[in-house]
Amino acid sequence: MDVVERILISEEEIQARIKVLAKEISQQYQGETICLLCILKGGLMFLTDLAKQLTVPVTFDFIGISSYGNATKSSGIVRITKDLEESIENKHILIVEDIIDSGLTLSYLVKNLESRKPASVRICTLLDKQINREVDIPIDYVGFLAPDEFLVGYGLDYQELYRNIPFVFVLKSDYYAN
Ligand code: IMP
Ligand code: MG
Repeated sequence: MDVVERILISEEEIQARIKVLAKEISQQYQGETICLLCILKGGLMFLTDLAKQLTVPVTFDFIGISSYGNATKSSGIVRITKDLEESIENKHILIVEDIIDSGLTLSYLVKNLESRKPASVRICTLLDKQINREVDIPIDYVGFLAPDEFLVGYGLDYQELYRNIPFVFVLKSDYYAN
C-alpha cells in the first residue's frame, strides 16, 4: 500500500499475540463473566479479535473517551464522548484499548469506572508506548511495547483514517497534513 512507510506489527504477529493473551485472560477469569469494555473507536478491532479467542463468557459495552483532537500529540484534555449503556456494578470489567501513551485517558477512565462499583477493573492494551507515560497506571495485559512514533492501522487512526488496515504501521510523511 502506498501509504505505508514501514510495517511495525504484521497481521500474523497481531493474531498470534492475541491467541496467547486470550489464553492468559481466559485462565485468569475462569468461572467469571467478563464485561469487555471497548474504548471507541481505536479498541474496536482488538476487541473483536480478542473476544473470538476467549473461552469464558463475555459481554460487550462501549465507551467513547478522548484525550486527543485530530492531532498526533496528547492534549491532556479528557472527555467522555459516549457513555456506557449498561450498569457495571459488580461486574468484572476488562478495558480493551488500542494504545496507551501518556496514560492520561485511562487514568481518568479507571477512576470514573471505579466510582460505579464494579467487581474489578483490569486493562488490556494492544500497544504500550511506555516511554511516554506521564501517570502511573497498572496495565494487566499488553500486546506489544511500542516505540515513540505515531502509529496507525488495526484501530489506530490519523484523522479517522487507516483504522481498518489489519496491521500496525508508520504512515508515510506525505500523508500528514501539516
Ligand atoms: P494517552 O491518554 O496519552 O494515553 O492517549 C491514548 C490515546 O491516544 C489512544 O487511545 C489513542 O487513541 C491515541 N494515541 C496515542 N498514540 C497514538 C498513535 O501512535 N497513533 C494513534 N493514536 C494514538
Ligand atoms: Mg483510543
